[in-house]
Order: sequence, then C-alpha cells, then structure tokens
Amino acid sequence: KSIVQKMEEKSNKSHILVLPIPVQGHINPMVQFSKRLASKGVNKVTLVTIYSISKNMPKESGLINIESIPHDDESPPQNIDPMLEWFHLLVSKNLTKIVEKLSDSEYPVKVLVFDSMATWAIDLAHQLGLKGAAFFTQSCSLSAIYYHMDLEATKVSLDGSDVSLPSLPLLAKEDLPSLIYDTDLYPTLRGLIFSQNINFKKADWLFFNTFNALEKEVVDWIRPRYPIKTIGPTIPSMYLDKRLKDDKEYGLSLFKPNSETCMKWLDSKEIDSVVYVSFGSLASLDEQQMEELALGLIMSKCYFLWVVRATEENKLPEEFMSKLSEKGLMVNWCPQLDVLAHRAVGCFFTHSGWNSTLEALSLGVPMVTMPQWSDQPTNAKFISDVWQTGVRVNVGENGVVNRDEIASSIREVMEEEKGIMLKENAMKWKKLAKEAVDEGGSSDKNIEEFLSNLLNNTK
Ligand code: UDX
Repeated sequence: KSIVQKMEEKSNKSHILVLPIPVQGHINPMVQFSKRLASKGVNKVTLVTIYSISKNMPKESGLINIESIPHDDESPPQNIDPMLEWFHLLVSKNLTKIVEKLSDSEYPVKVLVFDSMATWAIDLAHQLGLKGAAFFTQSCSLSAIYYHMDLEATKVSLDGSDVSLPSLPLLAKEDLPSLIYDTDLYPTLRGLIFSQNINFKKADWLFFNTFNALEKEVVDWIRPRYPIKTIGPTIPSMYLDKRLKDDKEYGLSLFKPNSETCMKWLDSKEIDSVVYVSFGSLASLDEQQMEELALGLIMSKCYFLWVVRATEENKLPEEFMSKLSEKGLMVNWCPQLDVLAHRAVGCFFTHSGWNSTLEALSLGVPMVTMPQWSDQPTNAKFISDVWQTGVRVNVGENGVVNRDEIASSIREVMEEEKGIMLKENAMKWKKLAKEAVDEGGSSDKNIEEFLSNLLNNTK
C-alpha cells in the first residue's frame, strides 16, 4: 500500500510546518521540498515566512499553504547579521501562536522542518511538542567539515596547511569554507553556522539538499551516526525530464525576473554558444573585480547573459557599457532554471552557491567557478576536482581575478578539449540527479521513509 493510503486508513492527519531563513538561497530549496512533501500526500504543508515576503503571495501557493509572521518594520534589516538576529526574535515571539492557531484546524501540526542555520528552532519545536527536522541548504560535505572542525578543533591546525578529514578529499586553505578563517566577518552568521552541529545531536531528522551518488563517501560516513536523509536535488522534475509536466514555478522569487527578455535573446542564439553569468542573491564584487569580470567577458568573445542585481549595477565601467550590446545581455534577475535548461547555454560562470551548483549539475551544464565566500570555495573544489564538471579561476596575488584569467577560463570550457570532458561529466551527473528523485530513487525513498516514520511515530 502506498504511504498515502496508509495515512488515510489510519486517519493520521499530518501537518508539517516549514521554516526557511528569509533569503533566496534558503527559500528556494525549502519551498520545493514543501511541494514534494505535499505531492506525496501529506495532508497539509505550511510554509512559514515573514510578512514582507508573504504579502505578495496568495494564502495558498499550489500544493502548499503560506503562513505569515507579522512584523512592524517595513522590511527586515538589509545586512545579514542584524537580519538573522531580527528573524530569531521574531520567530521566537510568534511561533507558539502560529502553531496553536494552525493546530486548531483539522490538521494538528506534527513536525517543524526548520532551516539548519536557525539552530535555536529545535528547542522551540520540542517545547511545543513537535518533532524537529533540520533542513540543510548547503552540501553534506560542508556540514561534515564544520562538524569535524568543531569536534576536532584541537587536532586540526589552521596554519594554512592542507586539512585531512574523514570521508573528504584533502582540502587546501582556499577550499575551506571562508568563515573558518574569517573570524571577524559576520559573527552572528558564523556563530549559527558552527552551532549547526547541535542539529546532529538534537534534531529528529537531518534533511540535506543533495543526493547520495553526489556525496557518497560523506553520506556513508554520517548515516550510521546520525538520522540523515538526502532528498535532493529540489528541482521540479520537468527540468530533469522534458516529458514530465509539473509545477514550473521554482521556489519563490524575491526578485523580479526579466524572463521574456532573457528567453527571447537566448532563442536567437546557437546551441552551446552562450555563457550564463551569475553570482546569486547575496555576493557582491568590488568595483575593480566588476571591471575585470566585465572586460574579461568581452575578451572571451563569447555571447554572455549576465545577471547583475540592481544594487550592483553602478559598479560597471563605462567602457563595458558601450560594448555590451555586441555580445551580451545584462539583466537584474532571470529565471535561472529556464536559462540553464536552454540549449543555447554552454557554460555557467558562477559563484558556486550551493543551489546554483546543484542546478547546473542537474541540468548538465559545465561551469567556470569564481567562489566568493562561505561554502562557495568548498563547492568550487568539488566541482573542479571531485565531480569534474568545471574549472576554477585563479585568483591573482592582489586578490583579484584578472580579465585574461576570466576570458581564458571561459574559453577552456567553451572551446577547448577539456570542455568536452566537462560536458560529458556534467551529463553523467544530470542522469544521476534524475535517478535520485525519480520514483524509487535514493532521495525519493528517503522522503517516503520519513513519511512512514511520521506515520508510525518512529525515527
Ligand atoms: C546563498 C549561498 O551562496 C549558498 O551557497 C547557500 O547554500 C545558500 O545561500 P546565493 O548566494 O543566493 O545563496 O546562491 P545560490 O545558492 O546559488 O542560490 C541562488 C538561487 O537564486 C538559485 O536557486 C538560483 O536559481 C536563483 N537565481 C539566481 C535566480 O532565480 N535568478 C537569478 O538571476 C539568479
């Protein structure tokens, strides 16, 4: 019998709350996961998010419900640390009321799936009599690094030499998550990132937006020790298999995409002729780096579609603006999955945020990585050396990646022999990503198993 039938039979009405931190890279995978749960027959799945995000949305978005956390301020603080502190306070003040209100309905709340960086949420969940599941929006390898660094702090010397940790490749200083060395930048974020290890000990489940084949060794190391469930990639199945039709809406966009302009422009280009360039929703390059990137793109002589967020636009050099229209299109935001899935896109020039990394792997697009901070250096290491679907730019001695390096890295992927190998590997990962989320695949089975645990009140 299917899980759904069993749930109905036992009239075990389940209601799951999902609580992401209100930033784009966390909202997208957690919204997608919510939809996946709902599509598996969970009676009710509610995404809990702040009013300034939910106000533009219907109370119900497809399969899931939206519950708003009220706040007086017009919008959350712009900087990461104050925003995280503000969010913690806001949720602490409102979660009990929200759970009580929602439990009055036909479907009492059973589980809180919380963002793994909201490390304080597990205690709130347990105090409210709910099970708590931590959802990690970054890779499993990354969490393993934080885990070992914390646990084995005395054994790992941070003197710049290579670091050897169980189930992970040898990591050079520039492969480690930046916040290990950057001890002064974003103290609140850093504190939360390191305290994520609490989830390993306290949470009832640990969900990771990854798939077994992608991070096999590290998943195999964690699995006997902690209740880990890989459930990704959280990408609508129609992008993985064109024959499938499902909800095309990906995540919940906090920026307005210039979809029509992008898709029309891409339609006019030859197969594999365009470099798609994006640094995600948070990273910010300084003016000198912006200039080198802009001129490097022109020097590559390839067509390029570059997402420059509105707040970054003023950093672009005039010399670039006058040449832009010859080869490039610049937009403030795009429908990234549609762009990556477009036949004209031959390479993704990326900051290697975890979502962008997974999206490119799952759609078979080779990459040039130019990591900025946080988990991005580690993702870049895996992309170039472990999964071998991309090349990583070299950073100059002045800390800047110069235009020649940018142009030659792009050409390496787009025109040279190496590009063929990278594309072949990318297509291999695409196939494995699809297998993981297909019915009976590893991620699909893990979701079913979680629902069965819930039904039988087991772990
Ligand atoms: C950040 C971190 O960098 C990331 O590693 C972490 O795991 C989550 O938080 P961000 O820097 O925004 O996120 O990058 P990324 O993880 O790649 O997420 C960006 C998301 O925005 C992706 O889902 C991408 O598809 C989407 N996007 C980006 C668009 O839809 N349009 C765009 O133009 C650019």
